[in-house]
Amino acid sequence: MRALQYLRSDLLDLKPYDAVLPVAADKLDANEFPWDWPTGFKQKLSLLWEKGIPSNRYPDANHHGLKQAIAAYAGADPSQISVGNGSDELIRSLLIATCLGGRGSILVPEPTFSMYAILAQSLGIPVVRIKRDPESFALNLEGCQQALAEHRIRVVCLVNPNSPTGNSLNTSEWAWVETLPPEILVVLDEAYFEFSRHTALPKLADHPNWVVLRTFSKAFRLAAHRVGYAMGHPQLIQVLESIRLPYNLTAFSQWAVQIALEHAEEFLADLPLLRQERETLYNALQQLPGVRVWPSQANFLYFQVEGWDPHRLQQEWQALGTCVRATGGGIRLTVGTPEENQRALERLRQLLQ
Ligand SMILES: Cc1ncc(COP(=O)(O)O)c(C=O)c1O
Repeated sequence: MRALQYLRSDLLDLKPYDAVLPVAADKLDANEFPWDWPTGFKQKLSLLWEKGIPSNRYPDANHHGLKQAIAAYAGADPSQISVGNGSDELIRSLLIATCLGGRGSILVPEPTFSMYAILAQSLGIPVVRIKRDPESFALNLEGCQQALAEHRIRVVCLVNPNSPTGNSLNTSEWAWVETLPPEILVVLDEAYFEFSRHTALPKLADHPNWVVLRTFSKAFRLAAHRVGYAMGHPQLIQVLESIRLPYNLTAFSQWAVQIALEHAEEFLADLPLLRQERETLYNALQQLPGVRVWPSQANFLYFQVEGWDPHRLQQEWQALGTCVRATGGGIRLTVGTPEENQRALERLRQLLQ
């Protein structure tokens, strides 16, 4: 098809983020949290809805109360925090703040969260992709180092633990990250922090070129409300605040997160059970013929099945009632409720027979 002439030609081959449509099936494709909200939280939120948020007024553009609540939860200062419409928005803002206008490229160790490359491409920012080790999914440090020598890398994108592969950065990877010079921004995406409990936050004081991203879409079960946050040097945060849309978060989303944080203990109390389910699923997958599954620090498992194209497996599994995500050359399966996990396993056994 002939391109509309006013469009940027570099956008014509770009594909939108491929989210599976909700179907009448177990949704184990998007790393959402499977259980309902804690009762106390739910009651407060419905009370808020009943009392009404003045919808004719704009929401708090500066996120005052929200930042205070996040700062107390995370153990940071509000001046170190910027809040986005999901961490997706913050990824885009970080790229605008660093690379836009031919100022440099981003380094993406693949497979990883696809939005880094998609957002960079949408902004005309070159993406340097370095394949992770196919056995351990650790960074190919030699390849990364070579990329730094050959390209003007301005941002290194590290998801920790990584999605879709579930592994956390190991000691030698951290040692390499420590060597990255101050002119390179290191994005440490901790979307799955509450599951792994490892954070780079205490090291931010020594590294003004590191930024930590987190989200309320996973352990806090607020994916529909679209709230993520960045923690970093106050100067970087000030720039992120200046370039974002003024009313990027609805009033309801801001309140939902503040109330959720009042109930943080109850939300987090479900995590041991989730981790236990992850281990049960991992052990069961390991028993299946031709399945190679990797350990995970997050709320999903990554595996490959000998002789199966992941996309075909995704389709056939979905036809039986379980949605999963074929990505990065394998399958990413979100840990669901015990019932969803059992059904997923039964259906997979049926397919592999
Ligand atoms: C690694 C990673 N970063 C960021 C996000 C986006 O989170 P949000 O819902 O806050 O935009 C996801 C979502 O799955 C993710 O896996």
